[in-house]
Amino acid sequence: MAVRGNFSSKLGFIAAAAGSAVGLGNIWGFPYEAGAGGGAIFVLVYLFFCFALCFPVMLTELAIGRKSGRNAVGAFNALGHRKWNFIGKLGVLSGVLILSFYNVIAGWAFGYTFEMAAGNFAITESFRAYTTDIFAVGGYGLMFMICTAFIVSKGVSAGIEKAAKILMPLLIVMMLSLIIYALFLPNAMAGIKFFLLPDFTKLNLSVVFNAMGQAFFSLSLGMGTFITYGSYINKKDNLVTSAALITLTDVGIAIIAGLMIFPLIGFVSGGTLSGVGRGPELIFVTLPYIFGEIGGSAGSIVGMAFFSLLCFAALTSTVSLLEVPVAYVVDEFKMSRKKAAWLMSGIVYLIGIPSLLGNGYSAYFSEFITYVNATTSTDFLNFIVNVANDSFLPLGGSLMVFFAAHIWKKQNLDAEIAIGFEGYQDSFIRKYLHFVIPFLLPATLFIIFAMIVLVTFFGF
Ligand code: PFF
Repeated sequence: MAVRGNFSSKLGFIAAAAGSAVGLGNIWGFPYEAGAGGGAIFVLVYLFFCFALCFPVMLTELAIGRKSGRNAVGAFNALGHRKWNFIGKLGVLSGVLILSFYNVIAGWAFGYTFEMAAGNFAITESFRAYTTDIFAVGGYGLMFMICTAFIVSKGVSAGIEKAAKILMPLLIVMMLSLIIYALFLPNAMAGIKFFLLPDFTKLNLSVVFNAMGQAFFSLSLGMGTFITYGSYINKKDNLVTSAALITLTDVGIAIIAGLMIFPLIGFVSGGTLSGVGRGPELIFVTLPYIFGEIGGSAGSIVGMAFFSLLCFAALTSTVSLLEVPVAYVVDEFKMSRKKAAWLMSGIVYLIGIPSLLGNGYSAYFSEFITYVNATTSTDFLNFIVNVANDSFLPLGGSLMVFFAAHIWKKQNLDAEIAIGFEGYQDSFIRKYLHFVIPFLLPATLFIIFAMIVLVTFFGF
């Protein structure tokens, strides 16, 4: 077998894994999902899912990865259960599909860096025109994919780890400064209230499903990212504290993003919060407006800094998305890492073209499908979101946990987690895992998956 890379230190692993988790999902996705899902009530359900359901899935993925030392598919073979490697194959497919549209959004954000630099704050008025300019946004997306492929071709430790350790803290500082700025604007409190005070009358099934999809997506779970990253970590590391740190960082940054955006929406809307549910274009419209308010070269500099840091956060995520299929072909088909990285990224870019075209340029892909009983059509990008994020990730998570509990067996899972964690045998976390892993967790995830499919695609 080819020599596999390793993370150089525990901090390096945490930085790369948190880098995978923290991305567009937190800063672009979370605010728009929360905005569309009724605000604080969505946040509450999301937090519950992250800690109660997703955290054990992360632990399971890490344990499978470290024990097997293989990619998302090979891991099942290495543990002696080749028949179950379809779970990993589903993960590789999810990774390819998610990266295909993720890269389109990353391309938008990348282009915004230049728009802000040029002081084009008026872009707010014509976001559709921007996404329809496909040679520009397609070009930015291509550049983004090339950066991703380049980093992945170099292997896990060198680039990602180092950059993540410096740039992630910078992004946090930047957002905290924007929060302070935002809080002093008129009507900021209307936004904060919407984000923090739950209105239980807004709780419904679609809030629950979206919160679930968002939690899995944001934590990079259900597709074997953490099996793959887990295969590069040290036997001495404590998996429980690692998973806890990654989860807390990810959730923390989503909350920070909310605290930044919602007061700004309060201000922009004069307290009415209109536009809060505008969906995927939310940050692309609200933020430039604010940067325009700051005005002049200061506005340009803040805008440019924000979007370039956002791009960086997206890059550590695209790297992990590409790493899943690349590690698979490198391990299982003995392809060189370099070739695998360029080949896979090329394929993914092509698969992403309909998502690129479906934002106004092509009527066909912009109104790609109308689900049973739906009143409006869904564009191609959101169709992939519904299939890969909302459906495949919870399904993958359910299958992985079921596999760990019943096929690989809980004792083996326990034994792997116990390495690097001295008091594990008597810990609360072990009791909790034993409580949820055999039945409750896989069943809940599976039911949610089944309901998402029925409700989203078949209009039940
Ligand atoms: N967690 C990333 C985000 O929130 O932007 C997206 C992602 C990365 C999803 C890696 C899945 C994955 F495997």
